[in-house]
Amino acid sequence: MATAVQDLMSSPPVTCPVDATLTEATALMNDRQIGSVVVTDRRAIVGILTERDLLRAAATRIDPRNESVRRWMTADPDVLGLGDEVGAAWSGLTHHHYRHLPVVDHGDLVGVVSLRDLLTVAQIRPADEAGTDVPRGLEGVVVAETSVGDVRGREGFFHYRQYSAVDLAARRSLEDVWQLLFDGALPDRTGAAGFAEEVASLRGIPEGLTGQLPSLAAMGTPLDGLRTAISILGAERGWRPTLDIDHAALRSQALHLCAVVPTILTALFRLRNGKDPVDPRDDLSYAANYLWMLTGEEAPATHVRAIEQYLVLTIDHGFNASTFAARVIASTGADLAAATVGAIGALSGPLHGGAPSRALDMLDAIGTPERAEAWIRRAVTRGDRIMGFGHRVYKTDDPRSVFLRDVAREIGGELFDFAQQVEQTTVEVLAELKPGRQLYTNVEFFAGVVMHSCGIPREMFTPTFASSRTIGWAAHIMEQADDNRLIRPAARYVGPPPPQPVPAV
Ligand code: ACO
Repeated sequence: MATAVQDLMSSPPVTCPVDATLTEATALMNDRQIGSVVVTDRRAIVGILTERDLLRAAATRIDPRNESVRRWMTADPDVLGLGDEVGAAWSGLTHHHYRHLPVVDHGDLVGVVSLRDLLTVAQIRPADEAGTDVPRGLEGVVVAETSVGDVRGREGFFHYRQYSAVDLAARRSLEDVWQLLFDGALPDRTGAAGFAEEVASLRGIPEGLTGQLPSLAAMGTPLDGLRTAISILGAERGWRPTLDIDHAALRSQALHLCAVVPTILTALFRLRNGKDPVDPRDDLSYAANYLWMLTGEEAPATHVRAIEQYLVLTIDHGFNASTFAARVIASTGADLAAATVGAIGALSGPLHGGAPSRALDMLDAIGTPERAEAWIRRAVTRGDRIMGFGHRVYKTDDPRSVFLRDVAREIGGELFDFAQQVEQTTVEVLAELKPGRQLYTNVEFFAGVVMHSCGIPREMFTPTFASSRTIGWAAHIMEQADDNRLIRPAARYVGPPPPQPVPAV
């Protein structure tokens, strides 16, 4: 692999006298199919003329036949030595934004090196220009500032704004936490009632969307259907790019979105299972209404509260993949529906929100407590992931899992006892087979147990997660829109060096 400038440069260099005209220089460049000429006065290098200079000149409408190269060239260009390392050449070119540099040997011009020449060297890559290497999967990389909330992985703690999320789940309603995320403060009693009433009145599915739901339900899962339904909703409501609307307009759209998502999801689920959708009720809380629309029956208070606590715990969770996806899309100025649809796509993956039903499937596959150890051992040895275990940020117990374990315990039942035994075994087997990785249950493991115990079918586990997380995404989308800069990182190109000649067909 080339390491010195002499291995890469074009030689001999093409030169042009300083008193030549632009027309003559252009003809020379066209003729030799090159992007620059070194300008010389007798044998001395006095400048470099590039295609960019020609474009600048053309933009001024001068007559190139009467314009001398001297006026448009870059005078006294930096030069490279024949034996210079390509790294030095790279930083010279990128630092000054040059595209070409002459190469000299003992004062004599011997070649020209271009940015393109340098890019043919595999270890010199465009992302180096201004890039910083980051760990795979962006682990631990801070990419934005937020006041929505945060996760402290080592402490096993997460918070929404200034409050512990676990304390909020224990003490407040979902609507209160929704308001906290949207407006920055928890409401007092009167404010809480007003907000709950306002969002309850927004639960109806707009007519333009209702007619589309049966075909969406027939085509795929409720989460698949939700993506398309939100696209339709945004178009039907005329939601404009976040770049073109103010905070109040975006907040109003976001309230509608978060209020109607549970209605859409439950309608899609029921239609898919051959049942008529159940209309929302505005006299019920978010959680109670969710279970009502899902089953068509009023759920017991213990189930309503358990699901409400689950929903509160999953509203937001730092810069997880779906929230990041939502913010990336919002950073382009795209509308609320676009950002939400992208986030749902990210959430649907089994490594993110798609795990809880798989955790329960695993419990089914294990069958009985005695079989747990052998089953888990076999799976881990095979290289499988145990669903509901491990977390990118938590290197101790996931506080959501701890809380939901208690919720599941209160509801009780055989499934809880079995799940707890499998949890214990899995943590032990993972500690033995994956030492040092600190793998514990994440939110998904007991989430599945709680949802199942409250009558939510497996098919609706991830959609239920999506329902509450829509509130978190919306809070982040608003925050991004309020203080936006396009999120546009770089990638390190590791393919074959360009430019290769394009083969003829
Ligand atoms: N089962 C077995 N091994 C695991 C598990 C698991 N659940 N999770 C991590 N590991 C192992 C990996 O095999 C790897 O081992 P290695 O060093 O021998 O290769 C090591 O732990 C580190 O794994 P990474 O993939 O680098 O960890 P990362 O932080 O990228 O992954 C993730 C986090 C995706 C959640 C992972 O733990 C996982 O796949 N869990 C199972 C799926 C799951 O429960 N997803 C829900 C997450 S919670 C949520 O998003 C709401």
